[in-house]
Amino acid sequence: TGLFPIGPTDPYAFATGSTERAEIAAALDEIRNTDFQVASNIAGKEVRTGRTMAIQAPHNHSQKLGELDLAGPSETQAAIDASLDAARWWGTLPWEERVAPFLKAADMLEHGPWRAKLNAATMLELSKTTYQADIDAACETVDFIRANVKNMLDMYETQPGSQAGAWNRIEYRPLEGFVFAVTPFNFTCMNNLAFGPAVLGNTVVWKPAESASLVAHLSLQLLREAGLPDGVINVVYGTGGDVGPTALGNEHLAAVHFTGSTGTFQHMWQEVGKNVGTYRNYPRVVGETGGKDFILAHPSADLEALAVACIRGAYEFQGQKCSAASRLYVPRSLWPRLKDRLVALTEQIKVGDPTDPEVYVGAVINSRQHAKHTEILARARAEKAVVVGGNTDDSIGWFVDPTILEVTDPHSPLITEEIFAPVLTTYVYEDSDWNDVLRLVDTSTPYGLTGAVFAEDRRAVEEADAALRYTAGNFYINDKPTGSVVGQQPFGGARASGTNDKAGTVWNLIRFASPRTTKENH
Ligand code: ALA
Repeated sequence: TGLFPIGPTDPYAFATGSTERAEIAAALDEIRNTDFQVASNIAGKEVRTGRTMAIQAPHNHSQKLGELDLAGPSETQAAIDASLDAARWWGTLPWEERVAPFLKAADMLEHGPWRAKLNAATMLELSKTTYQADIDAACETVDFIRANVKNMLDMYETQPGSQAGAWNRIEYRPLEGFVFAVTPFNFTCMNNLAFGPAVLGNTVVWKPAESASLVAHLSLQLLREAGLPDGVINVVYGTGGDVGPTALGNEHLAAVHFTGSTGTFQHMWQEVGKNVGTYRNYPRVVGETGGKDFILAHPSADLEALAVACIRGAYEFQGQKCSAASRLYVPRSLWPRLKDRLVALTEQIKVGDPTDPEVYVGAVINSRQHAKHTEILARARAEKAVVVGGNTDDSIGWFVDPTILEVTDPHSPLITEEIFAPVLTTYVYEDSDWNDVLRLVDTSTPYGLTGAVFAEDRRAVEEADAALRYTAGNFYINDKPTGSVVGQQPFGGARASGTNDKAGTVWNLIRFASPRTTKENH
């Protein structure tokens, strides 16, 4: 149905008794029963400082999954040195040798026990349902890896013309130096920020988000089992303050590959700017950051399709997607019916432990995020903006109610600032103000990531398409603004949302190449 996959329609719920269900259950048990001691991995060796933090399940903070050892500046320096050592030979290997471990890891993830294992870790550490975990940790990771290889080969084939007596060619060398990959907590598949540049022959210092250290640890273990040589990807777990200044201040920094918050990205860019005269090469700065992604309904919109898009776009992955629908503009003529439908659908949603197949919304990632959401929703309640939901609970896990808000001021922070929780804020416009609302959608936030217009009237679609040309790097017509598929909807946005280098594409990969042109007379 159009409501798929709300509640018990999680595909794995249908498969009770199936091999997949049994594999997931066994993998969940194995992870619950293992006390993971996660530490930085430099040139293939675990390196510890003894400074640790707990790895917890967000939906049950008494469930400890293990301990994370936190690196500091000297471990970061060691990871840089290991990367520079490996760069001497990794980037000179034939491409077939470089891609082999990655393609093998993709096959192992697609078909073997690793699928259930990485899914289970993603469910427990990031609080995702089986459905959400499988899309992310298995499907999108495999897609990214295979796309990297195809993109690299397409890139290699792009060659200049030659003239009589001279042969022109381009060699797509890896960058000179190391790539600093900084990955977020919300998607296991974003570990590809480290994998993509490595496929091309770069060596990498990888700093995963502390809240996603177990999934990073297992992803690296998978790659090493698949044959990735030591030193190509060196992982340092630590806070931004522990790792960032050393990596960003090193003269051999060749690129930053980042996904995370706008504030952190701007801070990193400032560091790079401050050091710009000291680098051997100008570092490539590639980042995908925040969003305040819109759904704009025209009076001609299909109400049921719109309602489902709002629910799925806002609540899936606990709203912790840079692409999540978080502001809704709806004409007064549609609002009463849409509101009733959104309330009815929201009330059907079960929030809780995502390993329960009936659960649709798990917990947000950690106490810091939860405290921020609690404060925002308290403000929303005080402003009488809550349509449905509006509460948080931290007694067992970091839970935030799926919430619809309604504001009367279209510039309220509730509808202009990124929240990163399952919260959708509505502004109701007068049907006759279509042109004004187009301007408002375009100008009321600094972001430019994703957005959707719902209209059956083709002229309205064309007007939105023209007026919102830079409002979204991923623009959807009559669909939710989330769920881009590698190779189908290249993903990324401009403005405060990033450098728009489109994840999983040749345009992204080429940022990690330093082409050399050769003209040879003959
Ligand atoms: N690529 C992810 C999406 O489109 C973030 O939802």
